Order: sequence, then C-alpha cells, then structure tokens
Amino acid sequence: MTESAVVSRSGVPNVDIDVFGDAFLADPYARHKELREAGPVFYLSSYGIYGMARHAEVSETLRDWQTFISSRGVGLTDFGKEEPWRPPSLLLEADPPLHQRTRGIMNEVVNLSSLRALRPVWQEHANELVEHAVARGTIDGVDDIAQAFPLRIFPATIGLPAGGEDHLLRYASVAFNAFGPRNHIFENTANAAGPAAEWVAMACERANLNSSGWGAGVYAAADEGRCTESEAGRLVRSLLTAGLDTTINGIGNMLYAFSQNPGQWDKLREEPRLLKRVFDESLRWDSTAQTFFRTASRDVRVAGVDIPEGSKVLLFLGAANRDPRKWSDAETFDITRSASGHVGFGFGIHQCLGQMMARQEAEMVLNALLPRVRRIEPAGDPGRVLNNTLHALGSLPITFVPD
Ligand code: HEM
Repeated sequence: MTESAVVSRSGVPNVDIDVFGDAFLADPYARHKELREAGPVFYLSSYGIYGMARHAEVSETLRDWQTFISSRGVGLTDFGKEEPWRPPSLLLEADPPLHQRTRGIMNEVVNLSSLRALRPVWQEHANELVEHAVARGTIDGVDDIAQAFPLRIFPATIGLPAGGEDHLLRYASVAFNAFGPRNHIFENTANAAGPAAEWVAMACERANLNSSGWGAGVYAAADEGRCTESEAGRLVRSLLTAGLDTTINGIGNMLYAFSQNPGQWDKLREEPRLLKRVFDESLRWDSTAQTFFRTASRDVRVAGVDIPEGSKVLLFLGAANRDPRKWSDAETFDITRSASGHVGFGFGIHQCLGQMMARQEAEMVLNALLPRVRRIEPAGDPGRVLNNTLHALGSLPITFVPD
C-alpha cells in the first residue's frame, strides 16, 4: 500500500491519482508502482471506476470476456447509458457472437501471406527513409522515420484514396482520446474531428477503395453474404482508426528506447538474430496503448474485491507490462529477454488484429537501420503529445551515427 492509496470501508483501496491528468499521461511510469502496490484491484474515486495494474489481474480480466465485456465501450463512456461519439466498432466494441463473425472476416483480410507479399516494397521504403536520415545525421525520429514510414505504406495497404494523411492522423488521435474523459486533451482534438471523420467515412466506402487493398478484401466478405455493406464500411473504419497512430508511436518509442539504451543497440548489432524480439520488448517496456476499459456484465469478486455489475474497470496495460511479479528487471529494456506474455497488444479475443503488420513494420525499420547506423544518440529532449490512451511522442531529436 502506498501513500496515494487509502483503504475504504468496502475494503477496496482508493487511489487518489488523476490517471488522465497531464502529469500522469506525460510520464505514467512515474506512478505505476503506486497503482500496482495499491492492490490487485483498486478504486479511482475521481472517476468512479475500478483499476487493475498488475499483470495477473489485467491479463485474466482481458481473458474473461463474458464477465468483462467490450460492447459497453472500452473507454470511460458506458454505451449502456450514454451515446457513443461515433457508431461503435464492430470489433473492438463488440462481444461474441457478433465479434466472432466480424473477427473471422478480418482475420482473413489481415493475413500473413498478404503481409509477406508486401515486404519487398516496404523494405525499399524503409531503406530510402533511413538512408536519407543517415545522410542528414540529426533528425526528428518521429517526423522522419516513425511517422514517415507508416504513412508511406499504410494507405496503400488498405487501398485508400490519396491525400488523406492529416485526416487519418487527426481521426486516430480523437478516437484514442475519446476512450478517456472529456478533459481538455479530448476537447483540443475533438475540434478537428468533423472534417477528419468526414474524410474517413468517405474513404471507407467501397467506391473509394482500390480493388487490390485490404479494404476491398473486407467488401469481398459482404459480396459473400458474411456481412452487410454497411458493416463492411465500419470494419474498414477499424483499420483506419487503429492502424496508424499505434504503429507510429510504437516505432517512435522503439527508437527512443535505443537512444536511451545504447548498449542494447550494440547487442543487436552483435546478434542480429535478436531482431525479431525487439519490437515486443519495446512494447513491453513502453506500451503505446497504455490503457483500455472493460465493463462488468455482472457482480463479480476479483482478488477479494467486489466489483458491481455495470462498473467500469480500467486496465493499465503499460503498468502490467512492467510488473515485477511477472518480469525480472521489469524497468529495464532488454532485447535478450522473451517479452512473450506482454499485454501491449492486449490479450484474449480482442488481442490486436494488426499485430503482425505492426511487427513487420518495425522489422523493416530495424533491417534498414542495422547495417547503416552504428549508434542512435539523443540530440535533445523528446516532445510528448498527451493522449488519453496512447503514450505518444510529438518529436524525438536523435542522431544516427553512420556505420
Ligand atoms: C504497435 C502497434 C499496435 C498496438 C500497440 C496495438 C494495440 C492494440 C491493443 C492493446 C488492442 C486490444 C484492445 C482491447 O482489448 O480492448 C488492439 C486491438 C485492435 N487492433 Fe491494434 N495495435 C497496434 C497496431 C494495429 C494495427 C497496425 C492495426 C490494423 C491494421 C490494428 C488493429 C486493431 C483492431 C482492429 C483491434 C480490435 C480487435 C478486436 O477487438 O478483435 N492494430 N490493438
């Protein structure tokens, strides 16, 4: 038990930390220990919600989709009581049996063989960006690599109309902010939501997607009668919401991790076979998606704490991924460890649909960097963009010291 936690009459520790406040979102790791030590389940009275920050309870809650449902929203808003800001996702914000049907469709669209086919083109893009960056020396790791690379390959993979990059970025930041409270962080991005949402709606229509991308693959399921035309549009929207900001920050956080841990870069250069492990360890160490909610579908007791039906439960994925009960030297970025079991991509039936895509993107970037860059050095303080869900970088001044 820590200073910020007080045991209430019902036996659940109450934690007095604003987990959607600026300071917490800028550096969640500074307070995660307090959350984990408060207890396996705690109460955040300022939001009237329960929280879990230890790996065991977070992963068990994600696994138990019958008790901890997603259809009432995976944010603070309870779709059972309040209007969602947009029609709910048919994947993320759905429970079985609907989820089983939609996920089945999407698992076929986002598949390993289509990803394999994309590797040569993706690698070329990554090489070109990295060569250009190395020639410049000091760059912004976000603008010049972490954002530039997904922006080059993502719209083409889905088959989107050209010119929508800014809309996609704005839309994603509103969507991830909307999982939190209606605080100033949400309001700042919500102002720009209108045109971005209009562009996204337009881009998800069958007529506006090219015939070879994943978007067309989703509409093929509608042609087979496996979903309606309007469901297909909303499933394409899921890719657009979840597929860009996540990888941008994932790659950015990975570059940041190496800039802070030069020994790990040396190790990777000595043992390139470790490359396939890097991105998962980077997500464990610094989780792009820091939190998601569930809603209790019934009264349930977890680790001795009674959680009433209808309660919102906030799962701290980022804290679970550094839980010393699960990981040795949990605070250390160590590419030699197996990060298997981390919840950075979630766990259970909603585990990330795009994880293979995200891993492949990171791999392409690392493939490009490894033979060309001897050291990744910090060249100034990174800039943070506060987001209610994502641990996001606005800028990352780094120097690539050439091989
Ligand atoms: C580093 C990159 C990424 C991270 C950290 C990430 C993280 C996550 C997490 C934590 C979840 C689970 C949410 C929950 O349980 O409520 C999730 C689900 C999802 N992700 Fe990702 N994601 C990434 C990349 C992508 C990409 C590239 C795509 C699409 C191409 C994508 C599409 C989705 C979708 C559609 C879901 C919902 C799946 C379902 O409910 O069945 N993600 N992601």
